Amino acid sequence: MAKISAGVFTSHVPAIGAAIDNDKMDEEYWQPLFAGYDYSRQWIAEQKPDVILLVYNDHATAFDSNLVPTFAIATGEQFKPADEGWGPRPVPMVQGHPELASHIAQSVIQDEFDLTVVRDLDVDHGLTVPLSLMFGQPEQWPCRVIPIAVNVVLYPPPSGKRCYALGKALRRAVESFDENLNVQVWGTGGMSHQLQGPRAGLINKSFDNTFLDRIVDDAEELSQTPHVDYVRLSGSEGVELVMWFIARGALNETVEQQHRFYHVPASNTAVGHLILENQ
Ligand code: DHB
Ligand code: FE
Repeated sequence: MAKISAGVFTSHVPAIGAAIDNDKMDEEYWQPLFAGYDYSRQWIAEQKPDVILLVYNDHATAFDSNLVPTFAIATGEQFKPADEGWGPRPVPMVQGHPELASHIAQSVIQDEFDLTVVRDLDVDHGLTVPLSLMFGQPEQWPCRVIPIAVNVVLYPPPSGKRCYALGKALRRAVESFDENLNVQVWGTGGMSHQLQGPRAGLINKSFDNTFLDRIVDDAEELSQTPHVDYVRLSGSEGVELVMWFIARGALNETVEQQHRFYHVPASNTAVGHLILENQ
């Protein structure tokens, strides 16, 4: 049986990808940020996941306002790094897992979550930056990745509560796949940030740290936070945090926290990171 062993939560700022790709990781501005992931790279080398269900959002790259799936799962063999305006990031192709992805689609849709099913998908910084933070710069990514895209760009995004319930359905789907696989679920995006309008640059450290506390052991109640609270307290793009509930919902109610990191600034964004293990 496939099993979910752990969840990884991390922000996905595009400038982090540019710092890695342009060899700026040791610069004074970036060094403390990357130091916060030293433990994580060691941890994941020991964990050796077979497959990552990587919950992320596309930033009007593969999808645009013409077609915006609320939740989509990618069932293709491979996914190219997207060109977001400066050429594709020099990172490996992402290898999918068509059998497990199709099984998850079948299971979750029968379980009343009507995912959009996508085959070809160019993956933007929302997916590739978390991979780079966790794995560094390998020739090939060391495991398969199933992209699960969530709309948090065009209102209305799904509620945190719906995301948490989808996480539980993902877990049922994984645990009914008849192959021994070590599966991780990653929740990405956030933390507080606003990229537009008069409040551009907004960061709220106390909101972020309370969120990091509560997603560990008070996730169900935290998932009921209304969108307007994210917008008011964590900025218009802080609403990306609803994606973390999909990963959290796929884990046990009681989890062991292996790592926590918080850093400001990275570009216009607060960076938060957690590693939670199922025991
Ligand atoms: C930035 C862009 C993002 O998509 C994001 O989620 C966070 C930050 C930025 O440009 O700073
Ligand atoms: Fe984003």
